[in-house]
Amino acid sequence: MDVPQPHAVILPFPAQGHIKPMLMLAKLLSHANFYITFVNTLDIHNHFLELINQTTFNNLFPRLRFMAIPDGLPPEHPRSGPQFIRDLFISILSAAPKHKFRDLLLSLINGPETGGGQWSTPTCVIADGLISILAIDVAEELHIPVIAFRTVSASSYWVYLNIPKLIEEGLIPFQGDDDMDGLITCIPGFQSLLRRRDLPSFCRFESIENPVLQFFINQTLAMTRASALILNTFDGLESPIISKLLSFFPKIYTIGPLHALLESRIKDHLLLSHSSSNGSLREQDRTCLAWLDSQPSKSVVYINFGSLVMITPDQLMEFWYGLVNSEKPFLWVIREDLLLGEDMVNETPQELTMRTRERGCIVGWAPQEEILAHRAVGGFLTHSGWNSTLESIWAGVPMICWPQLADQQVNSRCVSELWKLGIDIKDTCDRSTVEKVVRDLIEGKREEIMKSSDDIARMARDSVREGGSSYCNLEKLVDDIRSFMSSSQYASSECNEGRKL
Ligand code: UDX
Repeated sequence: MDVPQPHAVILPFPAQGHIKPMLMLAKLLSHANFYITFVNTLDIHNHFLELINQTTFNNLFPRLRFMAIPDGLPPEHPRSGPQFIRDLFISILSAAPKHKFRDLLLSLINGPETGGGQWSTPTCVIADGLISILAIDVAEELHIPVIAFRTVSASSYWVYLNIPKLIEEGLIPFQGDDDMDGLITCIPGFQSLLRRRDLPSFCRFESIENPVLQFFINQTLAMTRASALILNTFDGLESPIISKLLSFFPKIYTIGPLHALLESRIKDHLLLSHSSSNGSLREQDRTCLAWLDSQPSKSVVYINFGSLVMITPDQLMEFWYGLVNSEKPFLWVIREDLLLGEDMVNETPQELTMRTRERGCIVGWAPQEEILAHRAVGGFLTHSGWNSTLESIWAGVPMICWPQLADQQVNSRCVSELWKLGIDIKDTCDRSTVEKVVRDLIEGKREEIMKSSDDIARMARDSVREGGSSYCNLEKLVDDIRSFMSSSQYASSECNEGRKL
């Protein structure tokens, strides 16, 4: 008789930078024989199923299935644009997503969704920390243990946890005319690292009542109700801060960089291939890989601002002139929704178009992990999203950081001042600065930065190898979830009552 296997319900926040690492975790757990129900919002669910070859996916991961709940936005909402994420923060906490998630869990407990006995009732919910209130309220009611997965760095999450203290001390909110370079000394572990400008972007709102600031404060605190925390980082990089987080969570599993752990644990090339979906929500344009093949080693600057950042036409021009003036080859991902305001394509100065033809390649969405691993790439101009940062660290590619949203401000400060992996140009992007830092990264300061890049990339590699910290922590996570199946807490009568609801 088959041994019963755990069933984890995984609930990511509906955005690229969250779905990708959570899908990687889903694959790893499914590879450890777990049954997985991966819950997207309806819009993303439908889009995602269009992007993947479902038959191939089901053959490769027969124990991983997708289900959906609504995102709470009205059907006519464009689900893109500058207001989208802000609207989502509010709608995802509305009644509809919560009710549907509860119904879904109940159907997994009692109903036909258990799938003829193979799919046991849920052993645990692995919830994105950014929507912990939604997940924890429902799972607690149904007596299902919750593990929070926060997709940001340990350092950023630590700063988030300290925001109530910053408010108490009158340091937030701050205004544009406050000294942005003033040191923030009251966050333990970071007493001489962070300036006002390095605090998360939502600290710049004028009022502490701002709904986005409140959203982050509330979700961050709610997360501490989870029974454990998963982080996509590795001990060698952030252990002093991870120790501080241990006062909020009884257990922390650091299992990053997840994309590398996936490769280390799942050797089967087919399971890692494009057809099994790498969690990208857009079609990747692979033509740029051939362009990279034609470039000299370590010569190319790769520019990508992730999935959410939007820039003004003026900022686009400053970056563009800075890049061509640096006279280095560049590969730039300009998403179709990158620009705020009017479409610039027809207004691009001819001079720029010509100089780009000489040494540039522009695509709409790219296979980023492969690009960073390409021998021609010498530097990464990034928005400092945590996935991008980890991918760059792993590939040993030094960074120029231009952060815009949420955690990115903290990540970029750590990259430049703590880990010495790059140059942080936050709050500036004039063409002469861009030209200078590109030259510095590819030539002037390269040697100095490459020393730390190589050291930290080595640590990242060690962490995902057999016996490494992330490798072992994944095993602990798997064992601990298995133990939920037999634990008295899980089998208590209170729990069973919950299950019959
Ligand atoms: C944002 C936050 O900034 C991030 O720190 C947080 O953890 C999640 O939300 P995002 O803007 O999506 O994330 O950036 P990032 O975290 O870097 O994730 C983007 C992912 O998309 C990366 O894994 C990257 O490899 C992938 N990507 C991006 C592509 O595959 N192709 C592209 O062209 C651009």
